[in-house]
Amino acid sequence: MNGVEIPVEIPGPVAGQVPLVVAMDGPSGTGKSSVSRRLATRLGARYLDTGAMYRVATLRVLRTGIELTDTAAIGAAVKELPLTIGTDPSHEVIELDGEDVSAEIRGDAVTKAVSAVSAVPEVRELLVALQREITASAQRIVVEGRDIGTVVLPDADAKIYLTASAEARAERRNQQNIREGRGDDYAAVLADVQRRDNLDSTRKVSPLRPAEDAVLVDTSELSMDEVIDELYRVVAQQISTIGGNR
Ligand code: DC
Repeated sequence: MNGVEIPVEIPGPVAGQVPLVVAMDGPSGTGKSSVSRRLATRLGARYLDTGAMYRVATLRVLRTGIELTDTAAIGAAVKELPLTIGTDPSHEVIELDGEDVSAEIRGDAVTKAVSAVSAVPEVRELLVALQREITASAQRIVVEGRDIGTVVLPDADAKIYLTASAEARAERRNQQNIREGRGDDYAAVLADVQRRDNLDSTRKVSPLRPAEDAVLVDTSELSMDEVIDELYRVVAQQISTIGGNR
């Protein structure tokens, strides 16, 4: 802590719908989705999962049978993307052309292809525009992704970058693999986490990095409740320092 007085309460959503936009970025394995959702609930805010949007675009590409190397065709395929994404933190709605695809977008096929599809500039352009529209109409919202504080919403009221050591993230993923019957191989999972960290942070389009004005929160040693408390404090502190902007 840096000695700054932290307000205990963030103004609630009822008092004239105080606008509040929180950008939440970071790599996977930090617990980002669960904590973003819970933080949104605590703030009385909406919640937007931008990773899910890239996953729906990827499902669309896979269903049209386009080669993942054909970036022009990928760009064309997502031009008209009949995507519905809900923003209620306690009720997920993700549809492609009216069909509930919330389970399918988390499957192996989409997970393997999503990096390639999300690297196509036309895909990013389209989804970033949509993310900005949704944010503007929600007013009070936690937006979760990789480039929210840097590219999508550089003027967000609060910016958080969740981190965790590669070891902690690998441990979480390995435990999840064990629970879901996919075997126990910590060393292989750790190698994969490190390989993806390297790819994500060095790629040309929207590399994964914290915004200069983001607050880094390391979740390696914290429980879920501790993370939520810490994030609430960080948001309160950030909006008190930007105070006069609203
Ligand atoms: O958070 P996730 O695992 O559901 O994200 C799926 C993919 O989408 C992941 O490869 C990173 C990418 N992504 C992105 O490039 N930009 C975002 N704002 C969110 C996700």
